[in-house]
Amino acid sequence: MLHKENILLVDDDIDILELLQRHLQSMDYHTYKAVSVKEALYILKDSYIDLLITDIQMPGVDGLELLKFADEHYPEMPKLVITGYPSVSGALEVIKAGATDYLTKPFTKEELRKAVLKAFEQGSRRKDSKKTISANQDGLYPDMVGKSETYGKVTDIIERVKDNKATVLIKGESGTGKELVARAIHYSGKFSRAPFIAVNCGAIPENLQESEFFGYVKGAFTGANENRDGFFQAAQGGTLFLDEIGTASLAVQSKLLRALQEKEVSKVGARKTEKVDIRVIAATNSNLQEEIENKRFREDLYYRLTVVEIDVPPLRKRKSDIPLLVGKFIRKYGIEYKDRLLRISPDALQILKRYPWPGNVRELENVIQRAIIMSDGTIDVGDLPDKLKFQIDFPDSNFRSLHEMEKEYVQKVLNHTQGNKTKAAEILQIDRKTLREKLK
Ligand SMILES: Nc1ncnc2c1ncn2[C@@H]1O[C@H](COP(=O)(O)OP(=O)(O)OP(=O)(O)O)[C@@H](O)[C@H]1O
Ligand SMILES: [Mg+2]
Repeated sequence: MLHKENILLVDDDIDILELLQRHLQSMDYHTYKAVSVKEALYILKDSYIDLLITDIQMPGVDGLELLKFADEHYPEMPKLVITGYPSVSGALEVIKAGATDYLTKPFTKEELRKAVLKAFEQGSRRKDSKKTISANQDGLYPDMVGKSETYGKVTDIIERVKDNKATVLIKGESGTGKELVARAIHYSGKFSRAPFIAVNCGAIPENLQESEFFGYVKGAFTGANENRDGFFQAAQGGTLFLDEIGTASLAVQSKLLRALQEKEVSKVGARKTEKVDIRVIAATNSNLQEEIENKRFREDLYYRLTVVEIDVPPLRKRKSDIPLLVGKFIRKYGIEYKDRLLRISPDALQILKRYPWPGNVRELENVIQRAIIMSDGTIDVGDLPDKLKFQIDFPDSNFRSLHEMEKEYVQKVLNHTQGNKTKAAEILQIDRKTLREKLK
């Protein structure tokens, strides 16, 4: 019987690697070998791996971190751990990190065979049982981090629209991940093999927009020496992502409306129209209603675009996702810049959780990237930009007067000194007389 599944073996001990390879090849599996986590990551990226077998104790990045990484990015791939030190807590830890099972050294070929078969079996069972849980937890969108209820609404809609060609409008502040959502819709759906063409409408000068979007025929204008396709023709069968749709010229808007209504477009200068079969996803961070009132955006087009609407929440509305996102970016940039995985101190994480993130996920990503470059080991408060440290976390609307704040603070200090005014005055660095006046 030919299996030919791809198994990735990770161990810093070459002898163990060879042994595993010999055994598994004799069982007709195809093997890849890596002597470090870093090498393993490259192989995972470039090849399709059906099963990961990894050691835990390794110099540099250890196997536990590899497991966590693989669990996040390849949740459906079964993972088998080989460990030299069997202990209950260790076993629990590897299972929690995403291992399907573990095998203790030394093992016989027969034990290995059983463990591999069991891992494949559990891997496929996991796949089935996970399908019924919410979309975001089953790793359908491994690039999209977020388990909060607010973000769950986004992934739920993606799930519903990915296999049809309904037009989608994605709304959200800058840096919330609108493009990521558009890509997730395309690449997780059944048209994923067709092209995904992303166009930033704001980056194309208005006078070129029409010909860039719809193409042109030879002789349409000076310089048009040949027939050229536009983005619409290039996206045929797939998805056209129109980013910053609010900046599309009125000429493009009217042609776009027709494309959505009639499913046809015409090249600039052409008399004939051509059929297009594409899904349009548009995104905006501006208020299109306002643009409509100012006659800069066609209302009829707006209704055509909003067949399905997705509101990507700002990061401050899904703060519970911050630790997950931080973890993701630490893994990503730690390996890229420092060749290893860094940690973050609880204090630093606390500051990240408190900040309101006006630049959303992109801002958080930049902050972590910078902190990793600055840090030598654990990311700490000192590695974070100053503006984060002096942030006071007020709910947007609830500003209070200085007088009120003072009153409350004085009360707090007095409670702390159990009513002792001398001590309180000392802490507040004012004299007793001033304190007495304030208390009045
Ligand atoms: N849920 C998420 N999980 C992981 N990374 C995310 C998530 N959301 C956004 N990001 C990351 O944040 C960055 C910004 O995302 P993206 O470019 O999609 O935002 P955008 O809404 O299109 O922003 P803009 O309005 O500025 O164009 C990207 O690097 C993206 O990978
Ligand atoms: Mg964008």
